[in-house]
Amino acid sequence: MERSSELDRIRIAIDGPAGAGKSSVARAIAEKLGILYLDTGAMYRAFAYYAENLAEAGEIDEEKAEELFRDFDLKFADGKVLLGDEDITQVIRTPRIDKAVSPYASNPFVRKQMVSLQRSIGQDTDIVMEGRDICTVVLKDSPYKFYLDASVEERARRRFLQNEQKGISEDMEAIKADIIRRDEADMNRQADPLRKAEDAIVVDSTDMSQEEVVDEIINKTLEIKNAL
Ligand code: DC
Repeated sequence: MERSSELDRIRIAIDGPAGAGKSSVARAIAEKLGILYLDTGAMYRAFAYYAENLAEAGEIDEEKAEELFRDFDLKFADGKVLLGDEDITQVIRTPRIDKAVSPYASNPFVRKQMVSLQRSIGQDTDIVMEGRDICTVVLKDSPYKFYLDASVEERARRRFLQNEQKGISEDMEAIKADIIRRDEADMNRQADPLRKAEDAIVVDSTDMSQEEVVDEIINKTLEIKNAL
């Protein structure tokens, strides 16, 4: 059935700290509801990968970011992340990019560009978007807002298992330290820091399976929709 009004759109916004399972949960929700999924972290990771490959490692000012952005050719196709013709889906999820991404994600110019891209992708469609500033900035008018959390230990354990599956070996303590470092960077930066939106529903997934989290968010979304 054609959706008749903007209010009928379902735009689910999910924020939360590193490793809380946002990507897997958001992808599963989108699949179940048959709607689009946007991994906004992948966009910041792709920019970090692109800039680092141009040997622009570390802090860049807004002017430099603007210059770099001109040739930044990012696409999503068939579940893949493409930089020009290069498939960067896997490489942007490696510990190298985990470590490199924060300064790029803190750059106000980079954020402004990404937010505007994200808004245009979500403009005329039902979508699940996850990241750090989705409830507070990108989709702040959506009634469907969630903050997905989990203990640091559990998040490190999940990242360890994911790495293992990808054949990446990284020590649990190193993973934990990196998660804590990234949370601090995300929560304390000037531009759009990670914080729970006042009207976001908190889902603590520490003792929940992925299936349970997915069902909880879908059920709450339908409850909110029915009450509108
Ligand atoms: O969710 P992730 O680990 O893939 O995110 C990668 C980095 O990008 C992380 O440092 C947080 C940042 N990020 C952000 O600042 N805003 C978003 N909407 C998504 C991610």
